[in-house]
Amino acid sequence: MSLDGKVAIVTGSGRGLGLAYAQELARQGAAVVVNDVDAPTAQAAAAAIEERGGRAVAVAAAVGSAETARELVRVAVETFGGLDILVTNAGVLRDGVLWKTSDEAFDTVVDVHLRGTFTCVREAATHMRGAGVAGRIICIGSPTGQRGNFGQTNYAAAKAGIVGMVRTWAIELKKAGITANAVIPVAATAMTATVPYFAAAVEADAAGEPMPAFYRHDLGFGTADDVSGLIAYLASDAAATVTGQAIGVGGDRIQLWSHPEPIVTAYHEGGWSTAALEEQFPTLIGASLQSVGEHFPPLPDDLQRPRP
Ligand SMILES: NC(=O)c1ccc[n+]([C@@H]2O[C@H](COP(=O)([O-])OP(=O)(O)OC[C@H]3O[C@@H](n4cnc5c(N)ncnc54)[C@H](O)[C@@H]3O)[C@@H](O)[C@H]2O)c1
Repeated sequence: MSLDGKVAIVTGSGRGLGLAYAQELARQGAAVVVNDVDAPTAQAAAAAIEERGGRAVAVAAAVGSAETARELVRVAVETFGGLDILVTNAGVLRDGVLWKTSDEAFDTVVDVHLRGTFTCVREAATHMRGAGVAGRIICIGSPTGQRGNFGQTNYAAAKAGIVGMVRTWAIELKKAGITANAVIPVAATAMTATVPYFAAAVEADAAGEPMPAFYRHDLGFGTADDVSGLIAYLASDAAATVTGQAIGVGGDRIQLWSHPEPIVTAYHEGGWSTAALEEQFPTLIGASLQSVGEHFPPLPDDLQRPRP
């Protein structure tokens, strides 16, 4: 597999998962537009790729606005002659339980993740369609968007919205041969470093040691590099027929997520009146109610860490 001659944009790629994606795409031969709101990290990331013989350029800008999206595509086209791959990865957290979530915290997260994905994909897809490029759109979701999570109203809204948009784009871009997929990553980064449950894994990673098998295997939690192979694969010609999918990856694990499907279908002639529901709901629907949230197994004793 090679991405020789391809041009990629990776948003939020100054550090963390985005950096791992940019490095792997470059390693496979793609020229990469490295974007981050933090200018020094964006420049350092692009320089590191070039030092290893890759091609990269840094664009320091906040993803969210149409202006930034236009700038990213402009730089890709003017610097490297086109655009084949877009990875929308930039993200922030403003966690808080619903009744403590401010308008600002909601808007910030939705602006970067949801609006940033929308504006960048709109710009990239417009260019790809115009240039007749069978491009690759790879958007980053989260287990929180798939299942919900305590304290993450804004993030759940944005990440679920991203997967909803990906399904729609897979339909709209099919004729142009452009694929759109969502990757649901889990990895040790600044974003997960403070979660006590993952502390022992983050600690091992920071010390340059392998992460305990419990994390890598049972939880599908590993390093940022563990996620980057899937990004490069989906960006390649080998994945030309893979579109509209949500694929989870982390540690030693890969998972294909289902899309929501009706799991109980029933009919009541004349419609479902309150009385009809009162009679039939408990057995018809009540027996199949769905769980929400992620369910983590208890941590083995040797991986327990005191709460910070
Ligand atoms: N780490 C995980 O386990 C995990 C799990 C699920 C989803 N994700 C998603 O993966 C993506 C990357 O997460 P990460 O863990 O590497 O986080 P991170 O905080 O380490 O990196 C995010 C990067 O995005 C940049 N950024 C923030 N706002 C930006 C903006 N407006 N424009 C451009 N860049 C911006 C930050 O400066 C940072 O470099 C995010 O979308 C996150 O929601 C991560």
